[in-house]
Amino acid sequence: MESRKQFLKKLGAGAAAFGASTFFSPIKAHEITQDLKGFTGSATDIAKNEDYWARVQQAFTVDRSLINLNNGGVSPSPDFVQAAMKKHLDFSNQAPVYNMWRILEPRREGVRQRLARNFGVDTEEIALTRNASESLQICQLGFDLNPGDEVLTTDQDYPRMINTFKQRERRDGIKLNQISIPVPAENDEEIVHRFEQAITPKTKLILMCHIINLTGQILPVKKVVQMARKKSIPVIVDGAHAYAHFDFKHEDLDCDFYTSSLHKWLFAPHGTGLLYVRKNKIKDLWPLMAAAESQDDDIRKFEEIGTHPAANYLAIGEALTFHEGIGSKRKEARLKYLNDLWIDEIVDGDKVVLHTSRNPKYACGIATVEIKGVEPGKLNGALWNEHRIITTPIVHDQFKGIRVTPNVYTTREEIARFTAAMKQQINKV
Ligand SMILES: Cc1ncc(COP(=O)(O)O)c(C=O)c1O
Repeated sequence: MESRKQFLKKLGAGAAAFGASTFFSPIKAHEITQDLKGFTGSATDIAKNEDYWARVQQAFTVDRSLINLNNGGVSPSPDFVQAAMKKHLDFSNQAPVYNMWRILEPRREGVRQRLARNFGVDTEEIALTRNASESLQICQLGFDLNPGDEVLTTDQDYPRMINTFKQRERRDGIKLNQISIPVPAENDEEIVHRFEQAITPKTKLILMCHIINLTGQILPVKKVVQMARKKSIPVIVDGAHAYAHFDFKHEDLDCDFYTSSLHKWLFAPHGTGLLYVRKNKIKDLWPLMAAAESQDDDIRKFEEIGTHPAANYLAIGEALTFHEGIGSKRKEARLKYLNDLWIDEIVDGDKVVLHTSRNPKYACGIATVEIKGVEPGKLNGALWNEHRIITTPIVHDQFKGIRVTPNVYTTREEIARFTAAMKQQINKV
C-alpha cells in the first residue's frame, strides 16, 4: 500500500490547487481512525494512554493559548467535520436550487440511517433538527393539552424548557409542577419515587433530563419511563448532554421521546440536533411548523422547517465516523478520567465541595465544584483573568459552583494547569 507521503507526492501541484481543508481532511480523518484501531486494551487502560489521545487531539484545531473547560455549552468540531461542512456549503452555493435541494438534501437519509443505527432504533424514528431546544419544543408544544392539565418536571431542568412550559401556562392555562432532586442523586428508587409522588390525576406529561446540565447528574431514565408508562403518562427525555457522551443505546432507556444536541458531545457542526419518536407515537405529536396531513405518520414532518443548509446535516456523518472510531466506551472512560485527575487533587469535601457524584453510573464528563466562600462568578472570572481558563458559573437554590467539562482534545497538562490554578484560588480563601 502506498504511504501518505507517496500519495501526496503523486498528486503534486494538483493537490495544492484543491486547498488543504477540502482535499486533505478526509485523508486525515481516515488516518486518525485507522491509527486508533491499532491500540488495544480496556477502555480504562486506554483512558490513561497519552499516545492514543495525542492522536485524537490532532483532529482538532483548538486554540491552545487558553484552556477551554466548557465543552458542555457547545463543542468544537474536528477539522475534517468543518471541512466537510464547508465543502458541502461551497457546492450548494454553485446552484443552490439544484445542488442543495436536489443533490445534497436527499443525502440526509444516509445520516438518518447512521444515527438510527448508532442509537439502536429504526431509521423511521429519527428526525434531524437544529438543536436539542428544537427537538424538545417539538415535544413540549406538540401534545394537545387542555386548561387545567398538568405537566411535571424538576427544578433542575434547562431554563428554556421550563420557560416553554411556563409559556404554555400563560397561553393554554396548563399548570407546571416541579420536583426537587437530591444533589448528588445516587438512589434510583428515590428519584422514581419523587416523580411518582408528584403525579396527580391531571398529570399529562413528564419532562426529565438524562443528564442535568448543572451538575452532570445522570438520572435513571428507564425506571421513570416505565413507572410513568404504567400510568399512561408520556415522558420527554432531555438528552442534550447525553448522546455520544457516554455509552448507552435506546434499549437502556426504553423511552418514547428522546432529544439531543449533536454539537455538544458528538462534535457535529453547530446547529445540529436529534429527535427520536417511537414509531407508533409519531401520529399524535404535532410538528412545530405545520406539515401536510399526508405526513402525519412520517418522522420527516418534524423537519418541515423551510429553507436551511444541507451542509450541517451531512457533516454529521464525519462526526459519527470520528466518534465511532474512538468508541463510546473509550470516550466515556477518558472524560471521566480527566475529571478524576483534578477532583482527586483538590476536593476535600470541606473547603472544596463536589456537587457531582463520583459513581460512574451517575456522572461522566461534567462536574461542578464549589470553593466554600467564593462566589462562582468571581471564581470563574479569576480563572479566566489570571489563567485564561474557561469554566461556567452555576448558581441554583440548592447548590453553586463552577462547572468543568473537558473534551477528548483536552490534554493532561491542561488539567494539571487547571488543578494548579484552582489550588491558587483555594489558598486565597
Ligand atoms: C439540559 C439541556 N437541555 C437543553 C439544552 C439546549 O441545547 P441547545 O442549546 O443545543 O438547543 C441544553 C443546553 O445546554 C441543556 O443543557
